[in-house]
Amino acid sequence: MLFRNRFLLLLALAALLALLSLSLQFFHLIPVSVAKNGASSKSRKRIMPDPVTEPPGMDPVYEALLYCNIPSVAERSMEGHAPHHFKLVSVHVFIRHGDRYPLYVIPKTKRPEIDCTLVADRKPYHPKLEAFIRHMSKGSGASFESPLHSLPLFPNHPLCEMGELTQTGVVQHLQNGQLLRDIYLKKHKLLPADWSPDQLYLETTGKSRTLQSGLALLYGFLPDFDWRKVYFRHQPSALFCSGSCSCPARNHYLEREQRRQYLLRLRSGPLERAYGDMARILDVPTKQLRAANPIDALLCHFCHNLSFPCARGGCIGMDHFRAIKAHQMEDERERRERKLYRGYALLGAHPLLNQTVGRLLRAAEGRREGAFALYSAHDVTLSPLLSALGLVEARFPRFAARLVLELWQDREGPGGHAVRVLYDGADVTRHTAFCQDGRGRWPTPMCPLDNLVRFVRRDMLEALGPGGGSTSYYEACHRKGL
Ligand SMILES: *[C@@H]1O[C@H](CO)[C@@H](O)[C@H](O)[C@H]1NC(C)=O
Ligand SMILES: *[C@@H]1O[C@H](CO)[C@@H](O)[C@H](O)[C@H]1NC(C)=O
Repeated sequence: MLFRNRFLLLLALAALLALLSLSLQFFHLIPVSVAKNGASSKSRKRIMPDPVTEPPGMDPVYEALLYCNIPSVAERSMEGHAPHHFKLVSVHVFIRHGDRYPLYVIPKTKRPEIDCTLVADRKPYHPKLEAFIRHMSKGSGASFESPLHSLPLFPNHPLCEMGELTQTGVVQHLQNGQLLRDIYLKKHKLLPADWSPDQLYLETTGKSRTLQSGLALLYGFLPDFDWRKVYFRHQPSALFCSGSCSCPARNHYLEREQRRQYLLRLRSGPLERAYGDMARILDVPTKQLRAANPIDALLCHFCHNLSFPCARGGCIGMDHFRAIKAHQMEDERERRERKLYRGYALLGAHPLLNQTVGRLLRAAEGRREGAFALYSAHDVTLSPLLSALGLVEARFPRFAARLVLELWQDREGPGGHAVRVLYDGADVTRHTAFCQDGRGRWPTPMCPLDNLVRFVRRDMLEALGPGGGSTSYYEACHRKGL
């Protein structure tokens, strides 16, 4: 009972804080405040977190609630904001799949009872959910690259399968789609009324949760979801690097990063105690519990308002949850400091960013293909992208997180084209590595496309640090003596 009341209270608090923090970011657009903190890039704060509205010291439970991304009232977002003389040309959206069932089971406990069938009058609701179910039930014809055909178009198990998208996950992406539609289609007319299939570029990994998330977002986005106009490509790699995935240096950075993670874990007393206590409750060796990555399942209980599991030795409690989540936050902090992950991310995200830059340049030339691109992906896709772009302070990708790149044409200035970068609705353009002017923040809200192109084609590989300056991706990947 105590847990439930606390949950409700925290939920209300989180909703309020989220709203407040977005409104504050909105006012940051006003030039006065920009001039005021144009001082140094060192004073950059975490991107989403806001010192004014957040609990001091980063509360683990508050962070967990943001991660759940529980669908609630209409969200404020900064997508589509640009000076009048800019015209929207192209939009690229990178998403993490929505809320899903855990990938692991906690040993000796019952797995959480969550129903993954879609029911229009069960919470969370969405006005388009019923139509989505009807449309998807009719089947797709041949709208996917092999082997995506074999995947179900929507979640459908009365007891979720491991990793399955939930109704919450579908609603999160229907909401994302609708939000993007209101901004990009209704307001900025990104697609003409008679848009053709080649104006959409769609790519997903081969998991049902990413395909289904992509479909839900598109269903919310498109005014008429027509299977003949929708074609999803299959991406075998979670880094979206197909064709250039071989990169020994990237693996090397990853191994060192994993070693760092491992050593931090060994040093953490509270984490060790929490694991020891939980292992005692469940009567399993601590090692086995650790291997089952219990935070994944506990987050599912937490996000779905289910009490934590019990076993013969008692129940897993909020304190265990807090301790593990707090450790995750500490891990992210150390990760930012040590920069091994950045090395991994720069190499890992390069193929996808390079491909994206190619598309943006073609769009800037006036080609109309790919006006809207959607990449349906995972946390392990978005994390490296964020880090590579220099958004190292960004929060870990929540369920249904979205990273958006907008391409604009300046119809007045000689500047040509500009880009904006948005993460979960917040304008992070001026936090990126390619929109710094050396002394501090970029002076305008729009960042020249050339900056991004130069960054991806040259600077991001040179950013690999002393001795890391390499001219090509191939050289950077095969560098000796790291
Ligand atoms: C959480 O669950 C309890 C019942 O178990 C319910 O009364 C409460 O409304 C739920 N809270 C939310 C936010 O859904
Ligand atoms: C980057 O993209 C260009 C085309 O835009 C392509 O020719 C080149 O091979 C790509 N490089 C890598 C490393 O993927």
